[in-house]
Amino acid sequence: MKLLVTGGCGFIGSNFIRYVLKVHPDWEIVNLDKLTYAGNLKNLKDVEGNPRYRFVKGDIADRNLVHALFAEEKFTAVVNFAAESHVDRSILDPAPFIETNVKGTQVLLEAARAHGVEKFLQISTDEVYGSLDPDDPPFSEESPLRPNSPYAASKASADLLCRAYYKAYGVPVAITRSSNNYGPYQFPEKLIPLMIRNALQGMPLPVYGRGENIRDWLYVEDNCKAIDLVLQRGRAGEIYNIGGGCEKKNLEVVQMICNILEELNPPALHRPLHSLITFIRDPRGAAHDLRYALDCRKIKEELGWEPKVSFEEGLRRTVEWYLDNGDWVESVITGEYLEYYQKVYG
Ligand code: NAD
Ligand code: TYD
Repeated sequence: MKLLVTGGCGFIGSNFIRYVLKVHPDWEIVNLDKLTYAGNLKNLKDVEGNPRYRFVKGDIADRNLVHALFAEEKFTAVVNFAAESHVDRSILDPAPFIETNVKGTQVLLEAARAHGVEKFLQISTDEVYGSLDPDDPPFSEESPLRPNSPYAASKASADLLCRAYYKAYGVPVAITRSSNNYGPYQFPEKLIPLMIRNALQGMPLPVYGRGENIRDWLYVEDNCKAIDLVLQRGRAGEIYNIGGGCEKKNLEVVQMICNILEELNPPALHRPLHSLITFIRDPRGAAHDLRYALDCRKIKEELGWEPKVSFEEGLRRTVEWYLDNGDWVESVITGEYLEYYQKVYG
């Protein structure tokens, strides 16, 4: 297997590359990543010297570069993680989301069509389905696409292009739609790593609105296992939901982080941490989806996958990882992050 992984220097991509190199000793990986603010070579420092791994810096929307790479490497399969991935940033400026998530995906699909691959795996999200009310049944793969943020709309657009390339040209595309991932190497603009960092800095813990929005949390390693299964045995033309089966209100997640940190008791921790929780005006407004939940019977029945790491266990591992890797956190934060932070949080 010669695999093209795009966006491999980001959160899920770097966890996936590390996982694949470990469990498939005969697979080779080329990682194509533009190294945006969210992509960091440090995320894969431990595999840099692996002879089965090659890093290429580049943009998935760069047609010439992508076609040359396909011609040179003759990939067996593609896993497309590369994306602009943060909802709040998409509300501030949708343009890069269209460029990477829509145009970039089309460029990759076209290269896969021209050069031929055995599988093209598009990494999508539950956000394409829109929002659920508290008593609604979870989204199935058949649920309509009703994206509410520019991020979700760009991912839904990419999913539709994938469908069209499968129908019109027979490109063997499968799509995974996962719920909210968490774990090591997540950029500290997302809820869980942001709260951990702020807590350790004694900064306010900014909860949007009343903290009532519900997300379904999935430990990143469980997602990597599911993606690996869909890559090997998922059917072309099909969509697979991947959820953690763990719905939590945001406020509860933040409270759990505070409890774990107080228990682990790192030096100079602000106490009580709960006093740092600050309810702020919701920067997403009407684009803030109330609830996500996924019906994952398809991947369970077809591929035998289910999540193995409970939220309590995964969150504890994550908090411990951030405590042990404070240098990583501070090194990925730049002036750009501080500017972004100012814009959203004031
Ligand atoms: P991330 O923001 O941490 O990483 C994205 C990576 O893509 C970065 O390394 C970045 O440098 C790279 N990239 C961005 N634009 C690029 C371009 N034009 N060309 C090449 N590389 C580019 O994202 P993530 O959280 O790891 O998410 C990965 C994928 O999974 C995304 O497609 C996202 O939509 C999807 N997803 C994420 C979650 C989640 O909870 N994080 C949930 C469901 C789906
Ligand atoms: P996020 O991690 O950005 O993931 P997504 O929006 O893709 O689900 O946010 C998760 C939830 O946490 C979402 O309902 C918004 C909320 N949130 C906060 O309350 N405060 C924050 O500082 C952040 C980043 C998110």
